[in-house]
Amino acid sequence: MNRIYTIAIIGTGARGAKAYGRLIYKAPDRYKITHLCDINPTVLNTVGDEFCVPVENRYTDPQVFFSEKRADVLVIATPDDCHVEHCLAAMKMGYDILCEKPLTDKEDECKQLLETQKKYGNKILVCHVLRYASAYVKLKELLDSGKLGKLVSINWVEPLGYWHQAHSYVRGNWRNTAHAAPMILAKCCHDLDLIQYFAGSKCDSVSSVGDLTFFKQEHAPAEATMRCADCALKETCAYSAYRIYVERWKEKGRPEVDWPYNVLVSEPITEEKLIRAIETGPYGRCVFHCDNNVVDHQSVQMLFENGVTATLQMNAFNQNSDRRVTLFGTYGMVDMVDDKITLNVFGQPAEFIDPSVQNAHEDYAHGGGDSRMIDALYGMISGERPLATSLEQSVESHLIGIKAEESRLEGGKLLLVHE
Ligand SMILES: NC(=O)c1ccc[n+]([C@@H]2O[C@H](COP(=O)([O-])OP(=O)(O)OC[C@H]3O[C@@H](n4cnc5c(N)ncnc54)[C@H](O)[C@@H]3O)[C@@H](O)[C@H]2O)c1
Repeated sequence: MNRIYTIAIIGTGARGAKAYGRLIYKAPDRYKITHLCDINPTVLNTVGDEFCVPVENRYTDPQVFFSEKRADVLVIATPDDCHVEHCLAAMKMGYDILCEKPLTDKEDECKQLLETQKKYGNKILVCHVLRYASAYVKLKELLDSGKLGKLVSINWVEPLGYWHQAHSYVRGNWRNTAHAAPMILAKCCHDLDLIQYFAGSKCDSVSSVGDLTFFKQEHAPAEATMRCADCALKETCAYSAYRIYVERWKEKGRPEVDWPYNVLVSEPITEEKLIRAIETGPYGRCVFHCDNNVVDHQSVQMLFENGVTATLQMNAFNQNSDRRVTLFGTYGMVDMVDDKITLNVFGQPAEFIDPSVQNAHEDYAHGGGDSRMIDALYGMISGERPLATSLEQSVESHLIGIKAEESRLEGGKLLLVHE
């Protein structure tokens, strides 16, 4: 019989509870959620009831929560600027850890995390969910098959749907670097993780340019008001909160449980709740009148120690958020758009591969990555399977992002990743 591991979750929001918590709760032969901590008592108790966690095991004060070790594993899904503090505290208490990305945007904290892990010997999985998504697993398999010959360069595009940018990076939690990591880490650390994984080597140097160009006061149409609720453009503006949250939700068939609508309101989602949230909450603000400062486009150039070169382009001006990846090898190339792959071995007919069809039975959040990562967590803590990605590798891709942001702020200066 499987050993059942006890799980505590700190940060019981969209990721901690609605993504990972629900997947963990659905696997009672492997995990039991025993303790929860969240500074928001309403969220904490709703989630506590859903996962049947006793009231006395629910904590609103992180200090009280960390005064004792509560479970075998701690899931850390608090906001970006809490990860280091919570991860260090958990390591010292002997937890094995599932920690949300980004770990940090500071180089010295990367080192501190690695040193602490070395000292206490914890097993740590950072939530690079795309490592486990079927399309990227397939890309790695094709690279390893040798069909492309030797990998020479990587072209990676991370397009954010216009509504996703407005939701998370203009109106939402990741809009300002005072509280969240810069875009290149907050959004693109998955891309950097995969780029270095595919390149198969440490990154030598990096340079980056980019800016916040559009979502600023100076681009507000003359008629625009501070909030969508009283704006003359609420029926027509592409960024209108009514169009993004109410109309899109209706077009999707009015789901009672769905992201991003469940970020604005509690489930079950209703039209009345959404309208009220738009009238009163942060997601009803005009996108040209928010306190955002993160970029809406950024390019990064990378040179790896084995000679592979890579470019990553993030931009906010897209209909949908479907990554586009091309891997160029000496004997072939592979393209991926919207998780669908075209393999061209030079001189041979193209081969079309749709990994999502092979995995149609799976929970498809992040291309199946969320559910397979929770599966990999069990493999890690039980020792049944080696990890797809170590803390050391996560730190490596974070260092690329940290240096890329430093380069962007210095106008595109070429920087060594390991000085
Ligand atoms: N792996 C991914 O693909 C992915 C996707 C989205 C977000 N994230 C990351 O996951 C993390 C959580 O994001 P989310 O969307 O779940 O946010 P969220 O706001 O929905 O949830 C965060 C929760 O943490 C609680 N909280 C805040 N400070 C706390 C503290 N000091 N102690 C305890 N609880 C605290 C909040 O009350 C909230 O309920 C972020 O770091 C984010 O960048 C990762």
